[in-house]
Amino acid sequence: MKHLIPEFEQLRKRFPAGFESSLLLPCLRRIQEDRGYVADEDIDGLVAWLGVPRIQVEEVLSFYGQLRRKPAGRWNLQVCHNVSCSMHGAERLIDNLSERLGVTPGQTTTDGRFTLTRVECLGSCGTAPVMMVNDQYRENVREGDLDSLLGELK
Ligand code: FES
Repeated sequence: MKHLIPEFEQLRKRFPAGFESSLLLPCLRRIQEDRGYVADEDIDGLVAWLGVPRIQVEEVLSFYGQLRRKPAGRWNLQVCHNVSCSMHGAERLIDNLSERLGVTPGQTTTDGRFTLTRVECLGSCGTAPVMMVNDQYRENVREGDLDSLLGELK
């Protein structure tokens, strides 16, 4: 993350002194965008640069499910399994994807193409069931859509 420090310094100017911990989320998001996940050395770097306790960084990482601690596949399939989505078939979608990809939620296929993740509410309950493919929402997803959806992901 050292190469991101100049960018983070610019960001820091927008925050009042004493609010260093507020920089954690935007910095972690930027690190993940850059590396694909947040590595141990990134945490060490943030602790040293911001002067915040390591536990604070770990808290942010564990609270926000979209922050990853290990690399994801080329296509990160995040399927919501909260109430609205479950009532509209999310568990069947997850089971179907697990079977097709040969992984359980939280795993990446051996060829590194797909990561399947079961996530909490994606904030689009009215269009359940919802999943994200990398940063894009897919709404009203039905099992019958999975052939074409997976077919699009080369
Ligand atoms: S319950 Fe799935 S998006 Fe809210």
